[in-house]
Amino acid sequence: MTAPKKLFVKTYGCQMNVYDSERMAEVLGEQAYEQTDVPEEADMILLNTCHIREKAAEKVYSELGRLKSLKAANPDLKIGVAGCVAQAEGEEIMRRQPAVDLVVGPQSYHRLPQMEARVRAGKTALDTDFPEEDKFDKLKSRPKARRAPAAFLTVQEGCDKFCAFCVVPYTRGAETSRPVTRVLDEARDLVDRGVREITLLGQNVNAYHGAGPDGVEQSLAQLIWALNDIDGLERIRFTTSHPNDMTDDLIDAHGTCEKLMPYLHLPVQSGSDKILKRMNRSHTAESYLRVIEKIRAARPDILMSGDFIVGFPEETEEDFQATLDLIEAVGYGYAYSFKYSTRPGTPAAERPQVDPEVADARLQRLQTLITRQQQQIQEAMVGRSARVLVEKPGREPGQMVGKSEYLHAVHIDNSDADIGDIVPVRITAAKRNSLAAVRADQG
Ligand code: SAH
Ligand code: SF4
Ligand code: F3S
Repeated sequence: MTAPKKLFVKTYGCQMNVYDSERMAEVLGEQAYEQTDVPEEADMILLNTCHIREKAAEKVYSELGRLKSLKAANPDLKIGVAGCVAQAEGEEIMRRQPAVDLVVGPQSYHRLPQMEARVRAGKTALDTDFPEEDKFDKLKSRPKARRAPAAFLTVQEGCDKFCAFCVVPYTRGAETSRPVTRVLDEARDLVDRGVREITLLGQNVNAYHGAGPDGVEQSLAQLIWALNDIDGLERIRFTTSHPNDMTDDLIDAHGTCEKLMPYLHLPVQSGSDKILKRMNRSHTAESYLRVIEKIRAARPDILMSGDFIVGFPEETEEDFQATLDLIEAVGYGYAYSFKYSTRPGTPAAERPQVDPEVADARLQRLQTLITRQQQQIQEAMVGRSARVLVEKPGREPGQMVGKSEYLHAVHIDNSDADIGDIVPVRITAAKRNSLAAVRADQG
């Protein structure tokens, strides 16, 4: 028997890339690759990349620059680039960094076995097609090994919304939804492997419209209700949602579906209607606030999270102030904020840009406000009870770490709990990025 080859995967970008990395490792597992955390040991290095902002894309080239020296020590090492930079830049990657052997886009990684054989034969391999066949149909069913208790499951991919700043419609292609039965089968497989929490993924997950068993399309809410019936699955989440696709059945599910967790990531990007229009966002600040009002009526304790872009072309101080006002009005438990980054080929790239120093200063102000809100919400948790899905041991002896319903990281002291347990706790303190807790069900 030959020793298994070693695969090192590094993931950038969104949760969908985390899911894809796991699936790519599974595909290559069938080619006798075992995963390693040590790049120096690897026979194949895959960077699963993100193209959303310039910095994210450039990081990949600096990493490739570092990795290429490993080829001197191991002439059998092959280097591959997957994900959204692969899709956007294709062949150009091999021109810029000749150490790269393989480039594979997010819709064609089911073809990795053939590509691997090609690079082993000393050739290069490039596949950035949006193939007719569905990669999910070609990917074999997942291995049976036990795994971590929280998992991602991609149910919808691509985007037809074409926000003026965003590369996703170009890197991930047109919006498609996986059939309900496929999603349920994959969810049951995950539960058999020890998974207790599934986060459904899609670039516009709430636009999900997968075919049901009878061929009739189902909504995300219908899919969630079907998942709710799976024994052993305890928690359901979904991300990322678009404000315009928050339908009433989905909002209702937040009030009535026990396994659906009280956390919603609902990016708004800006609080200025002028900017939202120029972003091609198809919602206003007010329509966004109305959606949140409805969600809070259905589930008063829901924790809101959002995404913001500051310094979008032609953003004035007044526009920015409208964003701060919207943040004040919502009260976010989490928020991700970014300075606008010009992406070649997107409509906004051609427009008058905001002075980068002005944008930096605005980003600082926005982040100060968000941090304050976040801390207030975390401090308000102290003294309250929560239920924590235990994910891993903590730093201190006896300590375990997991996530609350609200996705807060929680450290439980003297927890006496196993990975995968869901335990009731009382929150005792709010730390910078986590909460401390003790078990509520023990002396
Ligand atoms: N599908 C999601 C998220 C897409 S990308 C949605 O509709 O909101 C994740 C986040 O990256 C976006 O919400 C946006 O805030 C940010 N982003 C996307 N393109 C960007 C750009 N060109 N510059 C800065 N931030 C960007
Ligand atoms: Fe990008 Fe807009 Fe689509 Fe989100 S909805 S992925 S921001 S184009
Ligand atoms: Fe990045 Fe592609 Fe996700 S551009 S954010 S990895 S969809």
